[in-house]
Amino acid sequence: MEHKGKTALVTGAGQGIGRATAERLARAGANVYVQDIDAEALDETVSRLAGFDVGVVASVGDLRESALPEKMIQESVDAFGGLDIVVNNAGYIWNGAMHNHSEAQWQAMLEIHATVPFRVLQAFAGWMRPTVKQEMLDSGVGVSRRVVNISSVSGTQGSATQVAYSAGKAAVIGLTKTLAKEWGRYNCNVNAVAFGHIETRLTQSYEDDVPEIEVGGRSFRVGLSSRQRAGISSSVPLGRPGTVEEAAGAIYLLTLPEAGYITGEVITCSGGI
Ligand SMILES: NC(=O)c1ccc[n+]([C@@H]2O[C@H](COP(=O)([O-])OP(=O)(O)OC[C@H]3O[C@@H](n4cnc5c(N)ncnc54)[C@H](O)[C@@H]3O)[C@@H](O)[C@H]2O)c1
Repeated sequence: MEHKGKTALVTGAGQGIGRATAERLARAGANVYVQDIDAEALDETVSRLAGFDVGVVASVGDLRESALPEKMIQESVDAFGGLDIVVNNAGYIWNGAMHNHSEAQWQAMLEIHATVPFRVLQAFAGWMRPTVKQEMLDSGVGVSRRVVNISSVSGTQGSATQVAYSAGKAAVIGLTKTLAKEWGRYNCNVNAVAFGHIETRLTQSYEDDVPEIEVGGRSFRVGLSSRQRAGISSSVPLGRPGTVEEAAGAIYLLTLPEAGYITGEVITCSGGI
């Protein structure tokens, strides 16, 4: 039980990679604070987490509300006495070719993929900095803490029809690398995982009708046509998409004591793209 007694906060934990990450961390013994905009999906996550002998707090809300990050950090600390791992995972896609991209689309992708993690980590810093200062006075060293931000190969390599999404996923890498430089002194490692094609509702297959998801009362077209899917699979050396468990595994690796000297890195989890 690598994380027994620790606490992890995972955003976008209602389904997909976030849910699998919350489960992986709970299996390692961590108490989990799970957050999502989708109440029904988050309920399902909470039922699954009931199988682990850990504390669970669930919080429903739209992370784009600027006061929410502060509330989440406070609630995690109040419930479990501290916060050791923060996973900035919540996100969605809003695709389109450059000539069809609206300014609203650009702002929306930067907001969820860069501004929201910025606000979450600023709220985290508000609690972590004085806490670590006290830990150092008490024992000479701050507790080892980890931040894992979720990026994408769209952010590291670009992706046609995802100009705004790719910019948001590149911005979160700048946030990651800068905070790694600022927060080494607090013994807090800050890394990112850039995913390739992971099987979730964002990458579901379709033949004719393009599937849509709803986020915050608005619909977005998602999924991959069988032709796009075949193209992606042929460019993946492992020859298949990743599972959410494999994605969660990459995040989990960065939370382990063995990753204690890794910070400011972007780990690609893409089957070798
Ligand atoms: N699936 C992939 O192939 C892939 C590839 C690269 C990066 N990613 C990234 O991984 C992360 C997780 O994606 P996923 O594929 O698991 O998607 P998903 O849709 O299965 O899960 C994302 C979760 O985030 C939540 N969310 C979205 N906006 C929110 C908001 N404003 N407030 C609170 N919660 C919100 C959704 O409700 C959902 O439960 C995202 O950041 C995504 O961009 C995914």
